[in-house]
Amino acid sequence: VTAAIRSATSGDAGAIAALHAESWRRFYRGVYADRYLDGDLVADRTAVWGARLAVPEPSTITLICDNEHGLLGFVHVRLDADPEWGALLDNLHVALAAQRQGVGSLLIREAARVTGERSPATALYLWVQEVNVRAQAFYLAHGGRIAGRELVGPPGGDPRNLAGAPYKLRVAWPDAASVGRRG
Ligand SMILES: CC(C)(COP(=O)(O)OP(=O)(O)OC[C@H]1O[C@@H](n2cnc3c(N)ncnc32)[C@H](O)[C@@H]1OP(=O)(O)O)[C@@H](O)C(=O)NCCC(=O)NCCS
Repeated sequence: VTAAIRSATSGDAGAIAALHAESWRRFYRGVYADRYLDGDLVADRTAVWGARLAVPEPSTITLICDNEHGLLGFVHVRLDADPEWGALLDNLHVALAAQRQGVGSLLIREAARVTGERSPATALYLWVQEVNVRAQAFYLAHGGRIAGRELVGPPGGDPRNLAGAPYKLRVAWPDAASVGRRG
């Protein structure tokens, strides 16, 4: 893939929201309720990303990867999210047509690099749905370790937005600088 990575700006909010909604609809089926996924998810995500990108926020990092065809993927990190587990990699999504071509790897490595630069020696963690075994394989291939299992919280705080009682796994790296090193 010919693509570049850069920091997201407020002008990217719409494209990020659209990819986020599309990715959830495809990959969070059975975790989030159909009613929620098939509802006005684009508006929901547009509100979230519009707010996140409206003002440059020193404690977050949002990177996107795009080319002449549009947005290929994005990643969002909250620095110092947890005193024990460190920075939280909050979202990583690659467009379906661009998957398994190295875009996710570029994004997580660059996000980890910038995280380590802004927050030296910080740990890094994320949550992945227990059913999302593809993403787990991706994180393990980048040196992450499974370090916990908890119930998924309902999006929007509304329990009806969940399908049943799904679990999520914590994936952790002791040092953001170690992301991407295999073995
Ligand atoms: C998970 C995701 C971010 C990975 O990004 P990607 O661009 O497809 O992955 P890459 O091409 O960079 O993969 C790099 C390496 O990770 C591993 N990997 C990636 N996908 C994998 C899969 N489905 N199964 C096994 N290993 C996988 C491989 O080692 C791969 O290297 P290889 O292709 O040379 O074998 C992407 O597939 C995605 O957006 N999925 C849908 C949304 C999602 O689940 N996001 C995560 C939410 S927590």
